[in-house]
Formats: sequence, C-alpha cells, structure tokens
Amino acid sequence: MTRVLDVKGLTGGYGSVQILYGIDMHIDEGEFVTIIGPNGCGKSTFIKAIFGIADYYEGQVSYKERRISGMRTDQLVNLGIAYVPQVNNVFPSLSVEENLQMGGNSLSGNILSQRIERALDMFPDLQSREHDLAASLSGGERQMLAISRALISDPNFLLLDEPTAALSPLYQQQIIERIDALREQGITVLIVEQNARLSLARSDRGYIMSNGKVVHTGDAKDILSDPEIGKYFLGTHDD
Ligand SMILES: Nc1ncnc2c1ncn2[C@@H]1O[C@H](COP(=O)(O)OP(=O)(O)O)[C@@H](O)[C@H]1O
Ligand SMILES: [Mg+2]
Repeated sequence: MTRVLDVKGLTGGYGSVQILYGIDMHIDEGEFVTIIGPNGCGKSTFIKAIFGIADYYEGQVSYKERRISGMRTDQLVNLGIAYVPQVNNVFPSLSVEENLQMGGNSLSGNILSQRIERALDMFPDLQSREHDLAASLSGGERQMLAISRALISDPNFLLLDEPTAALSPLYQQQIIERIDALREQGITVLIVEQNARLSLARSDRGYIMSNGKVVHTGDAKDILSDPEIGKYFLGTHDD
C-alpha cells in the first residue's frame, strides 16, 4: 500500500505567528480521511501548510515517499495534489466554463476539453449551467464547481477544506457522496469538516485537532460512536 501523505512533526503558521505545533498524520492510497476540530484550531492552516500557502517551519511532509515540505503550490499541482479552499473558491464574474478552464491553464485545448467534460460528468447539475456566471450558482453548485475545477489538473490526492459548510442538508449529502465517488477514480481524499458526521460516515479514518495539535486519531466509525468525542467535537450536546 502506498503512503500518499506522510506528515511528521509539522510546525507552521503565518510569518512569526505559530499555529501548528508538531502534527503527525498519514494517508494511504485510496483512503478517505476527515480532520475535525473546533473553529480556529488550525485545520485550514494545516492543509494550507501542506499545499504551500501557509508558512512551513519544520518537520517532514512526504507525498508518495517524496519530500515535499516547503514546495511551491505549482510544483505540488504537477505532482498530482489539488486543493479546494474553504472560501473564495470560484471566480464569480466568470462563467462556469471559464472557471473550469482556469483549472487547466497549461493544458492543451484537447486535453482541457476532455477534462472539463469528465468533471461535468461527475457533477451533472453544472452541465446545464456551463455558460452562466458562477455568481448565479447556489452555494451547493458553487462548491461543485470548485471541486470540478480542482479535478481539471487530474489529481491523485485531493485536499478539501469544509466543502459542505453553509449548505442545505440535501447539498451536504450530495457533495459528500460525490466526493466519496471520486475514490472510484483512484483519488485519495483528505477533508476538513465541521459537519463532521456526514464526512466521517464515509471516511476510513479520522483525526481530531485542537490548538494546533492532533489530539486523537482512529477509525472513523469509532470516532463517530465515541460519546465523549460526540459531546465535544460532533455537536451532540444541547446548545
Ligand atoms: N492569514 C493569517 N494570518 C495570521 N493568522 C491567521 C491567518 N489565517 C488564520 N489565522 C489564525 O490561525 C488560527 C487557525 O485558523 P484556521 O487554520 O483557519 O482554523 P480552522 O480552520 O481550524 O478553523 C486562528 O487563530 C486564526 O485566527
Ligand atoms: Mg478552517
């Protein structure tokens, strides 16, 4: 089994503001792994530090046994890693088609159209909207567009930051199902979620972060059924 991502002792943050305090995490080929944790604990920063957007200080990050710590985003994309940010992940003033084209700037026209067609097959809701502005899409459709755009680079490993945040329950379900279906195309998935139950239900394993550290890891089903974790991290307490 190939280890797709192997993170050891990762520290990082923004300039001199340290957010991550020694993260250990791994993902094997074909796995679907969810990271959960309270707002502000550093989940987005962790994904950004891997993808070369937040600052990497120390530790080892390997992708398929190749050291990628501190690499630039464009190099990571060339290696087969794609990232869907939590916010501002589409260009509202461009059409759906143009947004998808932006995901494959360096591809030849032929390959680009094939990739766009394949991405639209995954998200049929977008097919009839191809020439509409992204600004006119619903929240769920926008998220589908953001994921489709990430697929244009034909990634092996997809990092998704809260893809179901602020969506209706129906869209949440649909998005998680579609993400799960990406595994059939051999894509390994790392997802950060606040709506953790839906995502964990589809995941192999989970990690819980708190204050810039991993505080727990285990099988997704064990995390889901643990009453203490439910109380503190999955919103089962009355509030
Ligand atoms: N660009 C930034 N510069 C400085 N601090 C930031 C920046 N972005 C986020 N932070 C801080 O980093 C911490 C972790 O944020 P984040 O990784 O977004 O948490 P999460 O995704 O778990 O909600 C927060 O205290 C947040 O205020
Ligand atoms: Mg976040």
